[in-house]
Amino acid sequence: MAQALKEVRKLKDLQTLVSLSKRRGFVFQSSEIYGGLNSCWDYGPLGSLMKLNVKRIWWQAMTRRADICGLDASILMHPTVWKASGHVDGFSDPLVDCKDCKTRFRTDNTESYINEKKCPQCGSKNLSEPRQFNLMFKTHMGPVEDEGSVVYMRPETAQGHYVNFSNCQTTTRYKIPFGIAAIGKSFRNEITPGNFIFRTREFEQMEMQYFVKPGEDESWFEKWKQTRMQFYKKYGFNMQNLREHPHAANELAHYAKAAIDVEYLFPMGWSELEGIHNRSNYDLTQHAKFSGKSLEYFEEATKEKFIPFVIETAVGCDRLFLAFLCDAYREEVYVDESGAEDIRVVLGLHPEVAPVKVAILPLVKKDPVASLAQKLREELAEDWDVQYDEAGSIGKRYRRQDEIGTPFCVTVDYESIEDGAVTIRNRDTMMQERVPLDQLKNNLLLKIKNFS
Ligand code: GAP
Repeated sequence: MAQALKEVRKLKDLQTLVSLSKRRGFVFQSSEIYGGLNSCWDYGPLGSLMKLNVKRIWWQAMTRRADICGLDASILMHPTVWKASGHVDGFSDPLVDCKDCKTRFRTDNTESYINEKKCPQCGSKNLSEPRQFNLMFKTHMGPVEDEGSVVYMRPETAQGHYVNFSNCQTTTRYKIPFGIAAIGKSFRNEITPGNFIFRTREFEQMEMQYFVKPGEDESWFEKWKQTRMQFYKKYGFNMQNLREHPHAANELAHYAKAAIDVEYLFPMGWSELEGIHNRSNYDLTQHAKFSGKSLEYFEEATKEKFIPFVIETAVGCDRLFLAFLCDAYREEVYVDESGAEDIRVVLGLHPEVAPVKVAILPLVKKDPVASLAQKLREELAEDWDVQYDEAGSIGKRYRRQDEIGTPFCVTVDYESIEDGAVTIRNRDTMMQERVPLDQLKNNLLLKIKNFS
């Protein structure tokens, strides 16, 4: 029966994505068979592919520029790094315990406490005094667990950039302005993790520190805000779901001269996706002071020496992954003449981000169609992540691919054996086109490149 599109629904709640992620293999709860570990998540067969794609597009956007190099610093660093950075003394949240129901909560973002000094759980006013709780995970290096062996799991990747500023500058021979980009795990003992992979205690950051001459920092701050917004546009974000939230003077971190959050309209409301900060020369000055090593830069042209200012762009990989899923999710509701509804769930991911680029769907399971389809799978897998699916009706197979965001399906049929051609089906338009086998790769390549 003929169907007509009645409406397109957007994502309503995070739970829809949590369920889809588990059902289709994007994200699982960590240690699930033991009941799970609060706020820890594992990326499954599709999620691990997609996460790599998210990292790759960010990494390429940064390091394929002529003025940015890459870095992969270790998670454990010299403990003095965290004294110099201010994390040992200042990286903490104010906490209160409810003496009646034993709930522990933050005082600075709990409305019932801010307004009436009440517990958000049971309403009791029988509360402890606020205490500062440091968010860094501590551990010990070596066999002796004493104060002298304390090391921290890094709470941000950025300090690796600062302590390697001279190493990177001298080995690349880059002149200022230039940047260092890194992707890696960070750890924060968050008091209120939650909202799926939005706020977790173990997460991955993608951070870039751009070192500039003092006085040029403000214009570079503006340029980086634009550059980062262009990135989101390029990868298909609905720009109405993104906005800049400039920090007011009382919101600024102690080191920051200016900062904005790039906020995304997640199902739970506008929330920080990325931070862009003008960190002044605070970080390099602190590390020079604590290490006793000069971190001054000598500008050949002017014969000037100065400590560079830093413009930082910092985005969570997991948070960007979540934003991509939220933005891409849609339900297309079709009705037939009898009024019956049929819902097509689609992840309209950009092909560079989608975990599977092409699905190969043979219309019959037997040779010679199956062997041609397998041969195609192998050929396309040289360049892309490909799935082979021969189970169920072709309609059901298309729907399975739509739901995981596969932009292109290639069907192979008996005719393919005769005419040496296959059919490409487009996820978004559902249009089909017949393409000669020897043009298939190029055709797909162009489609991926010119996707908009
Ligand atoms: N070096 C600067 C810095 O770390 P931040 O605003 O604290 O700045 C940068 O973190 C980004 O890292 C955030 O915008 C967010 O995307 C991500 N992020 C921070 N804490 C996170 C957490 N607990 N879980 C997931 N992502 C987090």
